[in-house]
Amino acid sequence: LDNGLARTPQLGWNNWNSFGCEVSDRVIRQTADAMVSSGMAAAGYQYINIDDCWSTRNRDAGGNLVADPVKFPNGMKAVADYVHGKGLKLGIYSSAGLTTCAGYPASLGNEQRDANLWASWGIDYLKYDNCGDHQGRSGQERYTAMRDALARTGRPILYALCNWGHDQVGTWGPATGNSWRNTGDIQANWNSVMGILDAQPGWAGFSRPGAWNDPDMLEVGNGLSDTESRAHFSLWALLNAPLIAGNDLRTMSATTKSILTNTEVIGVNQDWGGRQGNRIVDNGNTEVWAKLMANGSVAVVLLNRGGGTATVSTSATQLGLGSASSYSVRDLWAHTTSTTGGSISASVPAHGAAMYVVSGGGTPPGSGTYSLKGQGSGR
Ligand code: GLA
Repeated sequence: LDNGLARTPQLGWNNWNSFGCEVSDRVIRQTADAMVSSGMAAAGYQYINIDDCWSTRNRDAGGNLVADPVKFPNGMKAVADYVHGKGLKLGIYSSAGLTTCAGYPASLGNEQRDANLWASWGIDYLKYDNCGDHQGRSGQERYTAMRDALARTGRPILYALCNWGHDQVGTWGPATGNSWRNTGDIQANWNSVMGILDAQPGWAGFSRPGAWNDPDMLEVGNGLSDTESRAHFSLWALLNAPLIAGNDLRTMSATTKSILTNTEVIGVNQDWGGRQGNRIVDNGNTEVWAKLMANGSVAVVLLNRGGGTATVSTSATQLGLGSASSYSVRDLWAHTTSTTGGSISASVPAHGAAMYVVSGGGTPPGSGTYSLKGQGSGR
């Protein structure tokens, strides 16, 4: 969506994956504090997003949504003021139906009323779900109605569609939202992360600045092993996915913090060479994922999905780089640089990944049109 927002994938946090419905003024303020003190804000994270269950069970007599007075005793504008005071932005949640997924009132038929209320509170981001009665209206129609309502508020509000890849969202999502979910919900386990990854090839052709495929929020630090968390973060970065942390920032381990604040990996996520990353080799338990960078280098993730250590390899030629006597290989997790005559290989632990940026051999032709071998044209 060309509303000036999300020109690179949005970076932030959302309470759903670790707190579910237990969101509150206290959790949001403490998370905003932690986002700054942990170094995440300095690494680029900006949005603090409230998910489902923030309102009362019914609209007020005037038809407006009301923040739950127990969870948000100071009202929502006070929360927005606090978050803004930290240099961060605040997100809210609703659904393009009559109720949210947890059964709270949602915005179908009340788009302008709700958008105006959020704008008056100082909201900067809307996650718009797909639950509740749709009143027989198509996804495109329901999501477009909120896009237009948000625009009429005059406030810049990032618009994140959450319709789970339904209704061929690839065809209308880019003109409707800043991102769109393209799968069902992620869970904090390796099989779920891999299942969502398997759904990604085919979507690469739809994303562009302002409009990103969203494979759902991160489970880094939420019960995945550190090795799994590194692989998950590497892959989501390569996919130009919104990087929305889902763990409790107030209590995260030093390792989780170091994963979420790896600015070399975030740098790949925020780079646009004309096409998001995609799978270029599928050998069953081992896979190669690659993405052309704006400067002609190629970012690569060597993934080992299996239960034992495996050697995963690719080459400068397979990555589409031109021929050269040597290439530079930057390891984005070890933060070291080496050179190679062309082969790129790593011993990767079970459920793990290595991530590199490979340069040399000249810039591949036409960064806007170049596509890595094996990438489909999108569905
Ligand atoms: C849906 C969404 C989730 C979360 C819940 C909240 O399942 O896909 O991301 O927002 O609703 O109820």
